[in-house]
Order: sequence, then C-alpha cells, then structure tokens
Amino acid sequence: MSERWSDVDTWFSDRLHAPDSALDAALARARDAGLPEIAVSAAQGKVLHLLARMAGARRVLEVGTLGGYSAIWLARALPADGRVVTVVGPALETLPGVRGPFDLVFVDADKENNAAYVRAALEHCHPGTVVVVDNVVRGGRILDPARADDRDVTGVRAVVDLMAEDPRLDATALQTVGTKGWDGFLLALAL
Ligand code: DHB
Ligand code: MG
Repeated sequence: MSERWSDVDTWFSDRLHAPDSALDAALARARDAGLPEIAVSAAQGKVLHLLARMAGARRVLEVGTLGGYSAIWLARALPADGRVVTVVGPALETLPGVRGPFDLVFVDADKENNAAYVRAALEHCHPGTVVVVDNVVRGGRILDPARADDRDVTGVRAVVDLMAEDPRLDATALQTVGTKGWDGFLLALAL
C-alpha cells in the first residue's frame, strides 16, 4: 500500500513496540506456510495487548487463530498463570465446550459468523469482559450498496446490530488506517 498512513503506522510501531522474535517468527512461518497475510497489524496487535492489560485479563478467548500472531500479542499481556484459548476450525462447534470465563474475547475469523461467535462467547463472559471484533470496516465495503448482499458485509452488519441491541454489551467502533489498509475494530464491554 503506497498511502502515507502505512509508513506512519510502521514509524509508530518501530518507535513504540519492543522487538519480539516470536512475533517475527510467527509472521515468517505463516508466510512460508502460504497463509494469507491478513493477521492484524503490529499496532493493532499492540492495541489488543494493551486492552488485555488494561482489563487485568488472565483468560483470553480468540476465535480465529490463523498463524498465531494476535494470540502471541495477547499471551504477552497475561500473567504467568494466564491462558489464551484460540480456536482453529469450526468455532461454532467448539465454543460451547471451552472453559471460561474469559476477560477478553477477540473475534477474527470468517466474517459471516461474527454475530454467532459473539453470541456464543457471551456465554463465557462476565461483567467487565472486553469484546473486540476485527475487520468491521473493510475499506468501507460495509456501506457499499453494491455489496449489501455479500456475506462478509451482512456478517459485520449483524454483529453491529447485535451489539447495538443486546443489553449485555455496550459498544463502539474504531476505524483504523495503517499497514493493513482501512479497517476497524468493534469494541464492547460486557455489562
Ligand atoms: C480478511 C480477514 C481478516 O481477518 C483480516 O484481518 C483481513 C482480511 C479476509 O478474509 O479477507
Ligand atoms: Mg482480521
């Protein structure tokens, strides 16, 4: 991406983030394995890390593992006896059986099931749990009339509707620009 916001993102990350060989290795291994390069950016990973620390998180649930990059950012935020549970494969089958409760939930899997993932995760939350959903902007495609029937778009809109209407959650969305283009996080607090 040639936009300056990508250079600015890298500039901030270079100055503000400690080098971490495990994060670098996770990206390299994901690339070697042919995984799509759709992990969160370094700054987004650090935001997740700081949110977990701000919440005093000990147990984190991640839906959508990919190459483990965001899981490492989250794991680095936890105390020695903390735990990240990260879900590979069909999460709607595994989520009912995971052992919570969780202090932070990060949903970053297939977008079409976003609302179902948050609904399932809510069974393992407590008042104060932080819930983050990745990719709720997708370069503005969320509001593109030509894509109104696209499953990724309807999946994002459904999770926004859920957060707007479910009295167990208080939410907002934060758009981001950077090395991963124009996207955003949906951020909620479980009440
Ligand atoms: C896609 C998925 C992601 O989780 C992401 O962060 C970026 C892109 C995708 O499926 O295209
Ligand atoms: Mg994502």
